[in-house]
Amino acid sequence: MPQHQSTRYQFKIKMWVIKALLFLLLIDGIKSTKDSQFALDEYYLEASKIYEKANKIHLENELATGKIGALDVSERILNKKIDASLLEEYVEMKISGGLREQNEMLELFEKAKESETSEQLKDEVENGFNMMDGFSDLEKKISEFNIDGVDDYFERLERRLYSESFISEIEYQLPLLYETYQIIFVYVRSFQDDTLSDTVKSILWERIDLLRRISEASHVILDALKKQGFNDDLQGFDSFERMRDVTEKLNAMMDEVKNMEGIDSKLLKVEKEMEVLEELKERNVVNEIKNRFQNLTKSSDFLTNFRTTTIFHGEYGGIQSISPLLQKIKSFSSKMRSFEFRTSISSKKWSTFENHFQHTNIQSGSLTEKFSNFRDCVQNFDFQTSFPMDFLDDFDKNLTQIRLVDSDIQNYTKRLEELAETTDNLHALTERRYPDPAQVDRDFLPLFREYLSEHAWLRDVDNLMILLRKIKDLITELNLDNVRKGFEEILEKMDESKQFLECYSNLETTASDIKELLVLPGKVWNFDPKVLEGTVEVVGMFKEAYKMIEEIKKWKVATNPEIENFPLDGEDVKAVSDGINVLETIRNVRNGLEMMKNLDVENLGIKDSWDLLDSSLSQFFEILSSQKIWNSSDVSFPTNLPIDTIKTFIEDEYQENQRNDILKFLKEIQILETDFPEYPNKLEKMNEAIEKMKEWENEKMNPVKTMVDCFEMECNASLKLPGASN
Ligand SMILES: *[C@@H]1O[C@H](CO)[C@@H](O)[C@H](O)[C@H]1NC(C)=O
Ligand SMILES: *[C@@H]1O[C@H](CO)[C@@H](O)[C@H](O)[C@H]1NC(C)=O
Ligand SMILES: *[C@@H]1O[C@H](CO)[C@@H](O)[C@H](O)[C@H]1NC(C)=O
Ligand SMILES: *[C@@H]1O[C@H](CO)[C@@H](O)[C@H](O)[C@H]1NC(C)=O
Ligand SMILES: *[C@@H]1O[C@H](CO)[C@@H](O)[C@H](O)[C@H]1NC(C)=O
Repeated sequence: MPQHQSTRYQFKIKMWVIKALLFLLLIDGIKSTKDSQFALDEYYLEASKIYEKANKIHLENELATGKIGALDVSERILNKKIDASLLEEYVEMKISGGLREQNEMLELFEKAKESETSEQLKDEVENGFNMMDGFSDLEKKISEFNIDGVDDYFERLERRLYSESFISEIEYQLPLLYETYQIIFVYVRSFQDDTLSDTVKSILWERIDLLRRISEASHVILDALKKQGFNDDLQGFDSFERMRDVTEKLNAMMDEVKNMEGIDSKLLKVEKEMEVLEELKERNVVNEIKNRFQNLTKSSDFLTNFRTTTIFHGEYGGIQSISPLLQKIKSFSSKMRSFEFRTSISSKKWSTFENHFQHTNIQSGSLTEKFSNFRDCVQNFDFQTSFPMDFLDDFDKNLTQIRLVDSDIQNYTKRLEELAETTDNLHALTERRYPDPAQVDRDFLPLFREYLSEHAWLRDVDNLMILLRKIKDLITELNLDNVRKGFEEILEKMDESKQFLECYSNLETTASDIKELLVLPGKVWNFDPKVLEGTVEVVGMFKEAYKMIEEIKKWKVATNPEIENFPLDGEDVKAVSDGINVLETIRNVRNGLEMMKNLDVENLGIKDSWDLLDSSLSQFFEILSSQKIWNSSDVSFPTNLPIDTIKTFIEDEYQENQRNDILKFLKEIQILETDFPEYPNKLEKMNEAIEKMKEWENEKMNPVKTMVDCFEMECNASLKLPGASN
């Protein structure tokens, strides 16, 4: 008995337990390897049994004392953290009527289906906008069109028509003009010869004054004509031309626009369809559903990774007192697995919904405004409007006639202007050059001849009167009142059209914008509402899962007097487990060595290494067996074992059946080599725990304890041990 052992444990009464075990292992082992092997296996088996028992009692004890709860046991068995708080938000959730946001969506979906408009109707609406886009130039033309010129023209026509004094003035002056011209003409023609006598000179000289009369008459007529506007009326006519052009275009527009009649009711239908989309957007239903799906999906992580349990065969299996709990855990786990499966099916559907709305955005701003505003435009518009083109044609013809005469008269105005000017010039010239009859020379007659021939038209000047009468007749026939009425009507209609076109252009939209809106409902509602299903079921599962966890938590183990005062704590149980691992490693190496001895290495390239390993390990086990106590300073693990050499050889060249066993064996050796220094301590701890356990069991069996005092009696190893040896 080594000194250190007895001094260290001398106050520990039942020290014999560990000593006995070590004795079995080591002392007995000295005799033969067979014996050593037997003892080691016995030791191992004994410790394992104790471990199994201790572990169970320990667990039951901890459950009974409340050190751990039923949920902890579940977590250990299922090897999973079970956090029921993840499901708390669903406990109070009312689901009997379905989830709010989903009901909203379904309601809107129904509404959308009811208000859905046909492709044809959408086409018609789009065509309406398209048509209106085509009239944007026309709107500009009407805006630029100024009717002042037309008005002005009529005013002047009227002035001509109703000014009697004008006609009579010209009627009075024209004959004067004509006659004076004739007088001069007759005189000048009478004197063909340029060599004039003094008498003739005198006569001719006196006629110079006639020029004054012509001048006066021409000025008077000219002024009268100008006053009546027979000089520059072409502008008024241009305004009329422009008006006619615009009216023609408007008329053509009306022909097209007629097809749009009744579009207001179609627009109204589209508005209704758009309203449902606006509601969807404003109530934020899609996002709410997405959030809901996300939360549900997140929470459904709770259901994942529950494995099929084999708990009735596992380490807890034999504990009778917790078998009701195990039953609960088992059914909980299998429930969760089936929930996981069902949830994954629902959540696949949900992602269809999410994907759909990922790619379907509803633009911001009003979706109905453009339709309703356009509807306002068309509601106040008369689609039957047509412009009186016959009237305009008729008027145009009449006007053309008037214009021809007008132009003739204007020609006269121009001539009269020239006449007045040349007459005044000639008058001034003759007065300057011929202050008295004596001055009249041979140049005198040619001056007048030239003047006369230049104005030969004066001989037919009464034509002007005919023209003036004619234009008066034409204007009278025109019936200006009717014409004015006709034009007022046209202007009024033109104004309506203008307002209509402006109303459209104020929408600030185009057919392509509209098309984008029109196709939107078809895109948005293009999903199967069935994909929304499953949420209620999933929430129900969460509620049920939560309830099951609550029940597990509530579970308590029945009190068991058998296990009162169980002395091992978790550390102790672990010490036993660790110790068993130590024994296992040693056993593995020793068994491996047995196997290795049977191997024929005679012809292998590693014979030397092999032999070295064999002898080193054999020697090690021998020393180990010869030692009466585990003490790392007494026994050291052999160094420089040729493990790597052997390993390389086996890995690269050895192909026999035992290849894997050998590799495993080599690995075990390495573990042993590394961990060996810790072994005495670990075994010591295990033995202490086993000692406590035995003592407790003994006390249970023999309540009146017969204390054996090792200190005084000098404990001896041949004492009978329960279960340790025969
Ligand atoms: C989703 O979870 C968040 C945070 O957990 C919460 O604020 C929100 O209300 C939940 N949404 C729904 C629709 O349950
Ligand atoms: C054109 O003149 C004819 C007579 O020549 C008259 O009956 C008709 O009313 C006039 N039309 C217009 C539009 O002025
Ligand atoms: C104007 O008068 C001149 C000279 O008589 C003539 O040659 C011309 O054709 C007339 N013009 C018109 C528009 O009548
Ligand atoms: C181990 O044995 C040596 C003598 O070989 C001794 O000095 C030492 O105290 C022992 N160690 C323990 C932990 O008993
Ligand atoms: C060992 O125990 C036996 C029987 O229990 C006893 O007869 C013997 O004297 C003891 N040996 C010593 C050294 O105490």
